[in-house]
Amino acid sequence: MKNLILAIESSCDDSSIAIICKDTYACIFHKKISQESEHSLYGGVVPELAARLHTAALPKILEECKDYFPRLCAIAVTNEPGLSVSLIGGITMAKTLALSLKLPLISINHLKGHIYSLFLEEKVCLNMGILLVSGGHTMVLYVDEKAKIHTLASTNDDSFGESFDKVAKMMNLGYPGGAIIENLAKKAKTKSLHFSVPMLHSKELNYSFSGLKNAVRLEILKYEKLDEEIKSEIAFAFEEVAILHILNKLEKIFKIYNFQNFGIVGGASANLKLRQSIEKLCSKFSCDLKLAPLEYCSDNALMIARAACDAYVREEFTDFKSEILSPKNTNFTIL
Ligand code: KG4
Ligand code: ZN
Repeated sequence: MKNLILAIESSCDDSSIAIICKDTYACIFHKKISQESEHSLYGGVVPELAARLHTAALPKILEECKDYFPRLCAIAVTNEPGLSVSLIGGITMAKTLALSLKLPLISINHLKGHIYSLFLEEKVCLNMGILLVSGGHTMVLYVDEKAKIHTLASTNDDSFGESFDKVAKMMNLGYPGGAIIENLAKKAKTKSLHFSVPMLHSKELNYSFSGLKNAVRLEILKYEKLDEEIKSEIAFAFEEVAILHILNKLEKIFKIYNFQNFGIVGGASANLKLRQSIEKLCSKFSCDLKLAPLEYCSDNALMIARAACDAYVREEFTDFKSEILSPKNTNFTIL
């Protein structure tokens, strides 16, 4: 029976392929080759290097999927937003596969994919608020009862995850900075350093992390040499305020929108302190919290495959002769 969808994700620095059963949402295959160690040398993603690594990693993973080819009913791929040189690798592979296996092609918005990480094994829940925190985005979204997505807030400058990456880079800690800063913060002892919460008294709902990043930079400049203790104090103070900033604006949004369901998605949603703080906020507002499994918070092809299951039912197929790459598009609907 041809009921499997193969999905490819290559929007940034993870090469990933997943195969899902379109009827049961069961994960048949999932593999991801991360480029973190290669980019770590530079303290951030180098697009040209990412593109080259995708062209080596994706065929390697695909080789492992060959036995499933006769059971495939569609090929799905992330087409927006992301690094164009990285997206091209996945899109070219997907188009070639669709053409040679004579299968329909499904293009999936990466942010929509992250939302589907909440529904890997179940039906999509509508009428819910979402915090999307990744390396590229910080957005509060509302999925209405008709599946239309409304952006309630976004960032004016850096994203939440990106600010962790940049703070880690300032202290020469490697890339990506999220988990590194989170772990380092746990070692802080005195906790006497404090940064100001950005836009604390502003009515604006949007985020801004550039001022906080600059405050960290100025703090670092005060020391001739950063020892482990100072680094952990800085990591703690930074993480605390970055999360307080997220919470402060979210609380304002919760007061306006009265969500019954709220989800957190994106690579940075793996942050435990962030999860715990939002859990408290949700219980204060009697709102159900949905979290993605930790393994599927960061970029992965399974979330793209799951989103493709719904697109397949609605026959939302893409003409493989068309230009489907749109690296900057953040406008999308969930269904
Ligand atoms: O969703 P993702 O894998 O890629 C993008 O679509 O951007 O998110 C990666 C981002 C990186 O900036 C990384 O530092 C951040 O998520 N991140 C975290 C944590 N784990 C990953 N940020 C804060 N705390 C974490 N534990
Ligand atoms: Zn992502």
